Amino acid sequence: MSNLYAIYFSATDTTSRCVNYICRGLNLKLTSTINLADDFDVVFPDFTSEDIVIVAAPVYGGRIPALVAESFARLKGNNAIAIALAVYGNRDYDDALLEISDILNNKNFRIVGTGAFIGQHSIFNKVGVGRPDLNDEQELLHFGKACKKAIEENKLGNIQVKGNRPYKKIAGVPIHPKGSKVKCIKCGKCVASCPVDAISIEHPWETNNSKCLTCGRCIHVCSQNARRNSGISYNIIGAIFKAAFSKRKDPFWTVGD
Ligand SMILES: Cc1cc2nc3c(=O)[nH]c(=O)nc-3n(C[C@H](O)[C@H](O)[C@H](O)COP(=O)(O)O)c2cc1C
Repeated sequence: MSNLYAIYFSATDTTSRCVNYICRGLNLKLTSTINLADDFDVVFPDFTSEDIVIVAAPVYGGRIPALVAESFARLKGNNAIAIALAVYGNRDYDDALLEISDILNNKNFRIVGTGAFIGQHSIFNKVGVGRPDLNDEQELLHFGKACKKAIEENKLGNIQVKGNRPYKKIAGVPIHPKGSKVKCIKCGKCVASCPVDAISIEHPWETNNSKCLTCGRCIHVCSQNARRNSGISYNIIGAIFKAAFSKRKDPFWTVGD
């Protein structure tokens, strides 16, 4: 019997929502879900060749986040079937989907489908507003159904993925969220949910910028709206992004033939 696993990094829940719609399309119940944002060092399950594993990540600077790539590199496919998914904020996914696919091929998975879908931009939230939306949902269901059909017909592999090798150079983001001492109630949610321990329980309104990934999870979990990105460069880059990347991009997916 085959088990369905979802392994991803999702800080502001757009990647996890995309994964869930794919599962609905596959019409299979998830055996287990791993969000690396909870723990990069998690022990992965032992897969069999019957298993189906959805491996997904958001796009950061045209790549997948380096810590996510490091974790994915610990996966052992054992010939399991994989679906590769990159979720991006309506700018571009550049080499990110290729990076995931390369890892999966190297780790002995058989890829049945790859997809690049759009989520609201987690830094510049006026870009990709409300994505994934109803149209994306339908497309994710179609993708899941197409993967299921390809698995039944044993059409695995031979998938061309957009991107270049060597991959784009990783560039850091010079923007980091800060908290408001006035609004903060010291509940500790941001401290517990930060994937890289960049927030201290003593001073949760501060951020250790040298650790921070700018993933936005601290903003996403804060019930007091006490944390946000701000500053001159944030406003300037935000305005540039809004002007340049507001035109709706469509999802792209492929399955094996
Ligand atoms: C540090 C960082 C870099 C990003 N780089 C890109 C990018 O290169 N292209 C793009 O379209 N979106 C980019 N995004 C937006 C995310 O890919 C997008 O919002 C994604 O849906 C976030 O996934 P999550 O909600 O599962 O965390 C970036 C976001 C962050 C935080």
